[in-house]
Amino acid sequence: MPKIVWLTDIHMTLPDETVNGRDPAAALTRCIDHILRHHADADLAAVTGDLADTGAAEEYARVRAELDRLPMPVAVTLGNHDRTDGHRAVFGEAEGAALGHASLSVDLGERWRCLLLDTNGTDASQGDLAIDRLDWLAAELDAARQRRCVLLLHHPPARIGLPAFDAIGLREGARLGLAAVLGRHRERLALIGFGHCHMSIAGAVAGIPMVGMGSVLYRVRPDFEGNGFDPVPWDPGVYGVILLGPAGPVVHTVATG
Ligand SMILES: [Fe+2]
Ligand SMILES: [Fe+2]
Repeated sequence: MPKIVWLTDIHMTLPDETVNGRDPAAALTRCIDHILRHHADADLAAVTGDLADTGAAEEYARVRAELDRLPMPVAVTLGNHDRTDGHRAVFGEAEGAALGHASLSVDLGERWRCLLLDTNGTDASQGDLAIDRLDWLAAELDAARQRRCVLLLHHPPARIGLPAFDAIGLREGARLGLAAVLGRHRERLALIGFGHCHMSIAGAVAGIPMVGMGSVLYRVRPDFEGNGFDPVPWDPGVYGVILLGPAGPVVHTVATG
């Protein structure tokens, strides 16, 4: 059964810098060590954005040094904290540079396709999807033929009911455009996974199951009334394990501490 290890929201800094008192380099090392111990047999490692905290090339170099320890292929797409030039300087053509966006398609055997869609926009926080990205997604879904698809992206594909995150979600035009593509390919899509919110979320969009994954760095408490971004104090950081069985996908959240 194909297996994907899924990392999101690494928020790597320069050496000796932290994010809300946490050390992203230590968190990523802990995560990679855990994957090597327990899931070295995975077919793919997928990273759904916010690899870097400020987008400096040196941050990507630190991320890449850790990801290079993994034995399986690694597929990376971007989030709102990422910067295209910093990412390209380190990851280069391997990550879909020919498209002009860091989206990519990976087939896992004869039955499954994993699509990573770049929602990194020009705004500092909101996600965006220009028409070329939606066209790319539709074409990759059409070309999947007999394969069922898992779509991974940084921003939630729908509103999630938390003011702090809905304010920095996908721009409305992008969200509606994505919903239209998803609706037309509902039968082909088995799962949509997103990061950005640093917490576990389950729901559906266009009739397709969607799952939000917690961050490699730390998870955040949902704030239903205010605009809070409140890290869980004891949280060691998590990653996802997606099992692609004959009945459909199953997603596990794995703590690394
Ligand atoms: Fe993030
Ligand atoms: Fe984000």
